[in-house]
Amino acid sequence: MKNGTWKRLGTLLLAAGVVAVAPSAAAAAEEAVPTFTKDVAPIFQAKCEACHRPGSIAPMSLVTYQESRPWARSIRERVETRQMPPWHIDRTVGIQAFQNDRSLTDAEIDTVVRWVDGGAPRGNPADMPAPVDWPDESKWYFAERFDGPPDLVIESAPFTMQAEANDAWWKPRSPTGLTEDRWARAIEIRPKTVAGRKITHHAIARLVQEETDPAIRQANAAAGFDRSRTAGTFMEWAVGKQGEIMRPGAGKLMLADSEIQWDIHYSAAGEEITDSAQLGVYLYPKDQTPEHRQVLHIMGAGGVDIPPNSISVTEGFFPLQRGARIESYQPHMHLRGKAMSMEAILPTGRRQLLSHVGDFNFNWHNTYVYDDDSAPLLPRGTMIKVTAWHDNTSANRANPDPDVWVGYGDRTVDEMAHAWVNVTYFDEDDYAAEVEKREAALAARGDD
Ligand code: HEC
Repeated sequence: MKNGTWKRLGTLLLAAGVVAVAPSAAAAAEEAVPTFTKDVAPIFQAKCEACHRPGSIAPMSLVTYQESRPWARSIRERVETRQMPPWHIDRTVGIQAFQNDRSLTDAEIDTVVRWVDGGAPRGNPADMPAPVDWPDESKWYFAERFDGPPDLVIESAPFTMQAEANDAWWKPRSPTGLTEDRWARAIEIRPKTVAGRKITHHAIARLVQEETDPAIRQANAAAGFDRSRTAGTFMEWAVGKQGEIMRPGAGKLMLADSEIQWDIHYSAAGEEITDSAQLGVYLYPKDQTPEHRQVLHIMGAGGVDIPPNSISVTEGFFPLQRGARIESYQPHMHLRGKAMSMEAILPTGRRQLLSHVGDFNFNWHNTYVYDDDSAPLLPRGTMIKVTAWHDNTSANRANPDPDVWVGYGDRTVDEMAHAWVNVTYFDEDDYAAEVEKREAALAARGDD
């Protein structure tokens, strides 16, 4: 491939990384104090209500003025420090355009802060936007689009959460029941019951199957994850996220006799609740095979060695055996996780930082899904480098014990240092065509 193409793809990453600049404090002060009904409610509807509404996961509702007003101080603090909404991508480096970005813009933060500083006024009731019509929790979200419920519904074994208890991670396995190979075109996960939403913090479903494609097996083995049974994250359910439809022409291959490995995080809700998670899979018709295969890879290091009272760095490498598009990034560490970055080392030796999570929080297993025009296209022979930082000192408030050595393991007091990365593979011709399509899209947008 020509050099010029690299430069242009590099420009694309930079262009996507441009960060908005906040209005200056002086200019902001001259503006009138924002009101709840006119300025703040639209922000809460778009960025908070998914979790902060009656019956959902957050501790309080932020739907009405009466409900929000008592929390004004706390809202100011959480919003200004970017702890809420949970979104941990570093906004100063790497790709910034995501399909599922729920973070606040600098202007939105400024509005909320000035609202609180100005006495958190209600404003004119007539300014209040119409309430959000949240989807019916008892229905499958994509059922209408696909003319019916999912073709396949897989359920986890039920779990009972006591009224008062520590958070629990529930990891049962369920067979998919497939007796032949099938392609998935959309997936959604949900707690089975509406009450289950109060305790289900997030649910991750991983596809476990005997991998058949040699390039994919080889890539896993080269990265140090030498498993013939690869576990790919099928999808994650988090509040406010309904599901995932594959990009056009792409699908996930589910093999006969595959299984779903669940990883569900439950939090107590003040009452005893029993629930299961459900995974709904919409399949391509049997006579329709998508052109491109999407695989969820585990990338990073298969081991960690973290001395007591120290900050440690762990690196892992994953070779792309074919031209590919990186669709999403989900860092995975435990309580000592501090930061994680994903870089591409191109066959030319040139390096690009794709994404950096600088403020990792074990409570939030966010998947960052790149936008159509920013999902990186990387040629065969690219090395993906995942770097994990762990903070095993007392400065890390989540650290249960800074005086112990920590190694790799499943328990939350053990550690991990990998990311789940969704990859769509192309053959050489299709890859070249994708690069051309991207250049055309960027040129049309005026970025080239
Ligand atoms: C993805 C779900 C989610 C979204 C979106 C979200 N929150 Fe939260 N929020 C939570 C959960 C869960 C908690 C309780 C756990 C915690 O404190 O982290 C919380 C806690 C808070 C708290 C602390 C409450 C206390 O006890 O003092 C504030 C304030 C808050 N959220 C404000 C907001 C605002 C404002 C937004 C939107 C701009 C928002 N949140 C978006 C899930 C969410």
